[in-house]
Amino acid sequence: MSLDPAAPLHVPVLLQEVLENLPLPPDGRMLDLTLGLGGHAQAILGRAGAGARYLGVDRDPRARERARARLGADPRLSILAGTYEDIWTDPAFAAWLRAEAPAGLDAVLMDLGVSSLQLKDPERGFSFQGEGPLDMRMDPESGPTALDWLAEQSDESLADAIYAYGEERASRPVARAILRSLRAGTLRTTLDLAAAVYTVLPKEIARRKKQIDPATRTFQAIRIAVNGELAGLAAAIAAAVASLKPGGRVGVISFHSLEDRIAKQTLRRLAGIYDGPGRTAPQELPRHLRLIHAGGLKAGEAEAAANPPSRSARLRIGERLATEFSSRTTP
Ligand SMILES: C[S@@+](CC[C@H](N)C(=O)[O-])C[C@H]1O[C@@H](n2cnc3c(N)ncnc32)[C@H](O)[C@@H]1O
Repeated sequence: MSLDPAAPLHVPVLLQEVLENLPLPPDGRMLDLTLGLGGHAQAILGRAGAGARYLGVDRDPRARERARARLGADPRLSILAGTYEDIWTDPAFAAWLRAEAPAGLDAVLMDLGVSSLQLKDPERGFSFQGEGPLDMRMDPESGPTALDWLAEQSDESLADAIYAYGEERASRPVARAILRSLRAGTLRTTLDLAAAVYTVLPKEIARRKKQIDPATRTFQAIRIAVNGELAGLAAAIAAAVASLKPGGRVGVISFHSLEDRIAKQTLRRLAGIYDGPGRTAPQELPRHLRLIHAGGLKAGEAEAAANPPSRSARLRIGERLATEFSSRTTP
């Protein structure tokens, strides 16, 4: 089975909210750390002036290819391979910043997680909607596949990951069922993985109770673990904030509670808000940001109906204050 060429590849979420809350001056400088298929980029560049510059980063070579095919002729756009965790030390990235944004950036966008291009292509192995190899790598050129990663796990370590990244309450029996199938040589594809989950959490019962497919949480967990999705997120948000000029804005779009918690806590801390134990911070937190729409922005009814992935999306925004950002304040 291959990707349906007639299906839209990815519809950018919260687009209106991004356009309104990360406004780019005509000659503005923007960094998009999750370029994907360039949906946000296209809309933002469509409104920007001839002097604007837009740098798009993505770890997925196929996403970069698509974005290049869509927008590559635009001389204002540059595209770099990399992750939002590691791009900060990439010489090509540093050179772009030096040349194009010596005074800092006007906006940074992070639209987290996977794109529909990745999710809908069975060959990428992200979804149990179609049969594909157990891969799940956003960058298919690096790191272990989901199957390789599973082969390295013990019952305990897999259960811990499924609990931590999928918030699956039945993580222990689910982990045992998956590894039993792996050892029996019957775990090869996405459908095999889903079938192992259903031996513990029957799909029919969930369907009758109108609950989400029981394999959803386990797939999310394994995908997050395989791609190390949460590990460098807080540091990447802090680095994004440090790269802004005063008045510049960062926007982070998350799709599940684990990502959103990190985005919220990081932005609040950079806004000088203490969320730790006790009533007051042990020392005053430096304030580098002003929070815009403190609770974040969610999709309206029309968008939620038209584009289901937007239902779980939340955009959090911060505006950079004119402060010194020392390396001690980054996480
Ligand atoms: C939700 S999509 C972005 C869609 C994009 N805004 C658009 O409108 O087309 C997320 C993208 O981020 C990329 N991505 C996820 N984690 C990443 C990371 N740590 N570093 C760089 N790119 C990442 C994925 O490969 C995917 O293409």
